[in-house]
Amino acid sequence: MVLCQARAAPGASCVREARIQDAWQIADTHCSSFLPHQGAVMDFALRLDRWAGRGCCCLCLMHVCRTMALAGSLPFEHKKYLVAVEETLGGVQVVSGILTIDKVGDFLPRRRPSGCRRTGIAYVSNVAVRHEFRRRGIAKRLLTQSEQVARGWGCRSIALHCDACNGAAVALYKSQGYRRVPVPLNAKWPQPKAVASSTLLLMIKLLIKHPVPSHHSSNG
Ligand SMILES: CC(C)(COP(=O)(O)OP(=O)(O)OC[C@H]1O[C@@H](n2cnc3c(N)ncnc32)[C@H](O)[C@@H]1OP(=O)(O)O)[C@@H](O)C(=O)NCCC(=O)NCCS
Repeated sequence: MVLCQARAAPGASCVREARIQDAWQIADTHCSSFLPHQGAVMDFALRLDRWAGRGCCCLCLMHVCRTMALAGSLPFEHKKYLVAVEETLGGVQVVSGILTIDKVGDFLPRRRPSGCRRTGIAYVSNVAVRHEFRRRGIAKRLLTQSEQVARGWGCRSIALHCDACNGAAVALYKSQGYRRVPVPLNAKWPQPKAVASSTLLLMIKLLIKHPVPSHHSSNG
């Protein structure tokens, strides 16, 4: 599924679903954004890990899952990997940003008292933009497209976790209408993997399905 309106012209960028051939660039974007200070060997190993599918960008696994889904055995449409790509003058597509969205509800507050997962709330993770492409509105565009995916799934809101100390990310999400929601201290549902010292904020944005048109008032 191509999410941008038209094919990107040279020098332009678009957001689309990830393809298997994007896997290495996604791994590279992921590692350089989230794990920037590794030694060369570790760095290469991490990229291989992300590429090969054991990390968050499990595109190879995705490929297998898609095949299975096509065979009718797995509802893989519960998760999508979006990439922002810039087209160079030579026609090469460079991945500049990544984002994952799912409607599995793993990391969302569970319903009480049943403890069941919530439905109707999409969850965004792994938002990252390569260093050289930052502050050009790429993360904003990825988030906008993720809303389109969430609406397509019939979700009423989107949630995400964000490290409270990550000023750029907090500013990004606030600017896009995400608001922090309090989490009970004794919350028992799984949390995303994070550095032990970090404080994760749960942020949610409500998706308004049909903006209310402004009507003329009856008195004038
Ligand atoms: C956070 C991140 C994804 C932002 O990507 P980006 O493409 O540079 O963001 P955008 O250009 O779309 O910025 C949109 C808005 O977010 C805010 N913002 C983004 N980066 C910011 C920064 N470094 N400082 C302050 N505000 C920032 C601004 O409000 C910005 O709007 P403006 O440029 O009109 O002021 C990027 O810095 C990144 O990849 N960081 C490393 C990975 C990471 O921390 N991911 C978030 C995980 S929760």
